[in-house]
Amino acid sequence: MLKEKERKKFFIESYGCQMNFSDSEIVASIMTKEGYGVTKNENEADFIFLNTCSIREKAEQTVRNRLTNLKHSKTKKKGVKVGVLGCMAERLKSTLLEQEKLVDLVVGPDAYRDIPNLLEDVSQGRKAVNVLLSREETYADISPVRMNQDGVTAFVSIMRGCDNMCSFCVVPFTRGRERSRDPQTIVSECQDLFKKGYREVTLLGQNVDSYRWNVTSKGVLKNPEQPAVNFAQLLDMVAKVDQKLRVRFSTSHPKDMSDEVLHTMAAHQNICKYIHLPVQSGNSNVLKKMNRGYSREWYLNRINAIRTILPGCAISTDIITGFCGETPLEHADTISLMQEVKYDFAYMFYYSERPKTLAERKFEDDIPLEIKKKRLQEVIDLQMQHSYTSNQKMVGHTFEVLIEGFSKRSDDFFFGRNSQNAVVVFPKQASLKIGDYVKVKVDDCTKATLIGKIA
Ligand code: SAH
Ligand code: SF4
Ligand code: F3S
Repeated sequence: MLKEKERKKFFIESYGCQMNFSDSEIVASIMTKEGYGVTKNENEADFIFLNTCSIREKAEQTVRNRLTNLKHSKTKKKGVKVGVLGCMAERLKSTLLEQEKLVDLVVGPDAYRDIPNLLEDVSQGRKAVNVLLSREETYADISPVRMNQDGVTAFVSIMRGCDNMCSFCVVPFTRGRERSRDPQTIVSECQDLFKKGYREVTLLGQNVDSYRWNVTSKGVLKNPEQPAVNFAQLLDMVAKVDQKLRVRFSTSHPKDMSDEVLHTMAAHQNICKYIHLPVQSGNSNVLKKMNRGYSREWYLNRINAIRTILPGCAISTDIITGFCGETPLEHADTISLMQEVKYDFAYMFYYSERPKTLAERKFEDDIPLEIKKKRLQEVIDLQMQHSYTSNQKMVGHTFEVLIEGFSKRSDDFFFGRNSQNAVVVFPKQASLKIGDYVKVKVDDCTKATLIGKIA
C-alpha cells in the first residue's frame, strides 16, 4: 500500500435514485481496495466521478451543467481526470466522449469492477469506456464503503436492473435485466452493519416485490438442494438480524406487492410501517398505455390490503402528469385517486420523453409543457394539503424515533424519523446519542416536520 501522500485520490458525487448512491459506495470500495484514497474535497482529487441519472431530461441537464462548471476546476488542477458513471454513461455510451470533451472515462452500472483497469488507460492520457451490461453482476461479494456520515442508516442493494418496461421509463435500458442478489450476502452485510453501530437498513431494488432467489420465472428451483427465497422471506430474514435494526425497503410495485409481504411487515415491529407504492396515474387507460400492469381498481385494492393488514402504515407514491394523450378527465382521475388514498408523501413529476422507450416509439408527446406543468402544480398543491394533514394527525401521539443526527437549524435539537418515515425534531438530552431509540411525544408540526419532546 502506498503512503498517504503518494496515493491518488478520487472524489465521487451521486445523482438520481438511492441505487446510485448505493452504487457509489460499491465504486468507493473497489477503488480503495486498489489503493486509491477517497476524498470529500474535489479540489484535492486526481479523479472526479459523477454517478449520473437519466430518468428525466432535467436530470441529464443537471449533470451537463455540472460538467461545464467542472471545466474550471479542471483547469485549476492540471491532470485531473473526469469519469461519468451510472445511467447517463450507459445511455449515451462513447458518444458522451464526443459531446463532453472533458470526460475521460465512461462506465455503465454493471462495469464498475473494471474501473481500476480503465484508469490505467486514462492515466496514460487515453479515453476509456466500458458500458457492458451483465445478466449476473450483483456486486454481492463487495462490502460497500459507507459514504454517509451518520453511521446509523445504510442502503443495501438486493437486486439490480428492471424487467418491467414501463413505457415512459429509461431504467430497463440503463440498468439492464433484473437479477437478485444472494440472500446470504444480504443478511451478512446487514449483520455487519449492525455490529458497526448501524440501526437502519433500506433494502433497494426497482421492484423489490419481484426479488427471487434460486428459482426461475417459471417457478423451477435452480438448485434443488436449497429453498427458494422471495421478498417476504428475505424481509423476514433481515428483520431477524436484530430487533434493534430497523428495516425499510424501496420500491414496491403495485402489480407485485403481495399480502405475504404485508403480513411479514405486521409480524416484525422493526420492519418500518411505511410503503412507497408509486401509482403514476389514477386512470386505467393511462396506466395501460404506461404498461404498468395494473388498473386503478387493482391499485386501490392494494391500498385496501395495506390499510387492513397494517393499520397506521404510511403510504407514499410517485405521480406523472401530462403523459402522452392524457385528457383532462384522465388527469382528474389522478386527482380523485389522490383524494381517495390521501398519501402521506409524494414525488411528483411532469412527463419527460426519453429516447428509445416504448412511449417514445409508440405515442406522441402531445401535451403542451404548459399544461403538463399546470396539472403538476394541481397535484403538488393537493399533496401539500395531504402531507400537512398527515403530520397534523400525528400531533398528540408518542412515537419511537431513531436518532439520526442534529437538526439542521440547531445543534440543541436531535432529528430522527418514526416508523412511518416522518421526520421528528426534538430537544437534545445529554444521556442520548445518535443511533439511540427514544420515545418522543409530538406536540406540533409544520408541513414537513413533526416537533416534539422526549416522553
Ligand atoms: N421502479 C420505480 C420507479 C423508479 S423511477 C417504480 O416502478 O415505481 C422513479 C420515478 O420517476 C417513477 O416512479 C416515475 O414517477 C418517475 N419517472 C420515470 N420516468 C419518467 C419520465 N420519463 N418522465 C417523468 N417522470 C418519470
Ligand atoms: Fe422503470 Fe417501471 Fe422498472 Fe420502475 S418498474 S424502474 S418505472 S420500468
Ligand atoms: Fe436515475 Fe438510473 Fe436511478 S436513471 S433514477 S439513477 S436507476
